Amino acid sequence: MKPNKYFVIDFDSTFTKVEAFDVLADISLEGHPEKNQIKKKILDITNQGMEGVLSLRESIQKRIELLSPQKKHIHLLVNHLKSLVSESFKRNKDFFISHAENIYIISNGFKEFVEPVVTEFGIKKENVLANEFVTDGNGKITGVNTNNPLSANNGKVEMLKQLNLPGDVYVIGDGYTDYEIKHSGLANKFYAFTENIERESVLAKADHIAPSLDEFLYLNKLNTVISYPKNRISVLLLENVHPIALELMKAEGFAVETYPAGLDESELSEKIKNVSVLGIRSKTQVTAKVLENANRLMAIGAFCIGTNQIDLKAATQKGVAVFNAPFSNTRSVVEMAIAEMIMLIRGFYDKSNKMHLGKWDKSAKGSYEVRGKKLGIIGYGNIGAQLSVIAENLGMKVFYYDKEEKLALGNAVKCKSQKELLNLADVVTLHVDGRESNTNIIGGEEFAQMKKGVIFLNLSRGHVVDVKALRENILNGKVAGCAVDVFPYEPISNDEEFVSDLCGLPNVILTPHIGGSTAEAQENIGNFVPGKLMDYINTGSTSNSVNFPNLTLPTLENAHRLIHIHHNVPGILARINQTLADHGINIVGQYLKTNEQIGYVITDINKEYDKEVIKQLRAIEHTIKFRVLY
Ligand code: NAI
Repeated sequence: MKPNKYFVIDFDSTFTKVEAFDVLADISLEGHPEKNQIKKKILDITNQGMEGVLSLRESIQKRIELLSPQKKHIHLLVNHLKSLVSESFKRNKDFFISHAENIYIISNGFKEFVEPVVTEFGIKKENVLANEFVTDGNGKITGVNTNNPLSANNGKVEMLKQLNLPGDVYVIGDGYTDYEIKHSGLANKFYAFTENIERESVLAKADHIAPSLDEFLYLNKLNTVISYPKNRISVLLLENVHPIALELMKAEGFAVETYPAGLDESELSEKIKNVSVLGIRSKTQVTAKVLENANRLMAIGAFCIGTNQIDLKAATQKGVAVFNAPFSNTRSVVEMAIAEMIMLIRGFYDKSNKMHLGKWDKSAKGSYEVRGKKLGIIGYGNIGAQLSVIAENLGMKVFYYDKEEKLALGNAVKCKSQKELLNLADVVTLHVDGRESNTNIIGGEEFAQMKKGVIFLNLSRGHVVDVKALRENILNGKVAGCAVDVFPYEPISNDEEFVSDLCGLPNVILTPHIGGSTAEAQENIGNFVPGKLMDYINTGSTSNSVNFPNLTLPTLENAHRLIHIHHNVPGILARINQTLADHGINIVGQYLKTNEQIGYVITDINKEYDKEVIKQLRAIEHTIKFRVLY
């Protein structure tokens, strides 16, 4: 680092996400009957200060009087502020440690809370320029040390004058007083920091806008932890994905754009050109044509379970990794199955319907407990297995049949065949996947294998049951009750009429494919998918990807990571390694996995390397995509 570069960084809303005085107000007014009125007054005073009606000193003094903070409150405030450091500052801690000599924190706030927060980042105590409290000797804060230039207007400029730094000065901050340092000729550049707040008047004056510290470090070639500022990675979230996803992606520093609806093929083909990460739900069709234009696209997050709406083959050919949320709504489906089997075995549904028609039909006939009954689960995957555990807790005897070898949970008993299961179960529930060969796995023959009076549930996929056969078996009394959530044909929208042979039958619960539709499931999806996308971008990890070979990678330490995606033809790994050997580069770790279409090679190499090698790796024939992490 050249010794003549100095970094002057603001504290409130820059180093931390918040204004410390606001947090102090919440702490010191806790339980105060006039808390809201006082907070309103404080806001008025702050605004008067900004408008020049009050001097900075008057405004600080008045705010202290209103809050009457005590020393013990400052301790709490520091703890809060430590957890509210701006995300991009947290991830660039190395920068502060390695440049500690040349970093100054400047604030109209107070040393008593600024210092303990910033010194954790290696910043030197003597480089913290802030106000100091005056106390009355009993721990009560009464005012501000007026000898400190920062307690007066134009204080930041005064302070910089006194410092007289012998080199280039870069100021980073969110407020007008930070810009004033540059304006007074004491700084070479002013970077408006917008990670937490954007002020139009400040943006207009800035030499550069820094949506995160990454951008500042990238522009000044100072970055040590990330290869490319995340704010330059554009994320497009369509179809109102859960707000938590937006929050998570923003906190990571990505430039996120959201759009409430889906986009049609031509709109998306245009929009996708600048997008690096796309988030969709089930309506947006990501076709081969869309993907043709997706030259910057690295990953697609499907904020749902299914991925039929994405042309997975085309995405793979293009080197775009696709992620979804396969088990985020598992619990919701399980709860629905439990609720429905109890409703049906007791006949609640028909009884309730009769009540609505004015019929009082009090009787215990045909009404049973689920306790002790035999539950037969077909398909012991995510949902089937979880249902098994909960049903057993209700006292049911659980039997299951799965095509694959599956570990029996609890006391569940594995059946050797579907027939064996159908012969013994009092309740049959389907949780198989929707592969085509599962069409009509339950039809006339299978109903014949079931016990008379069976309760039957299908919450998996519509085509796995022969609906006509189900209807017959309800009408002939074989099936005593049934719940169906999925249908061979499902209306495209709520405006379309629902037509089915099952409508109007007794003790039949029909629901519009809502097994997984709960607020919790949506929130789980909103949390899960961004995690997968960020892992992929930050480490190259593809665990749970729908179309990429799955690799879970160790975190990168003291190495560069080369990520190479290529068409799956023989000899590419050898060519990568030959290229590295030709340049005398030491491989510290290497991971390879292929699927039918592509090969995915991760190579971790020593920190020092010749940049020419990157060009050569990119030029290897059959390369689809190549990127470097460091
Ligand atoms: P999963 O893939 O974890 O489990 C499916 C299991 O079924 C696997 O263990 C598989 O080996 C087994 N299987 C497949 N065909 C079989 C057959 N013919 N006989 C026996 N076993 C067979 O899937 P998950 O997450 O448990 O989902 C199960 C079903 O539920 C899927 O069809 C899914 O689409 C559906 N689903 C429905 C929802 C709704 O809103 N109603 C919400 C979420 C999932």
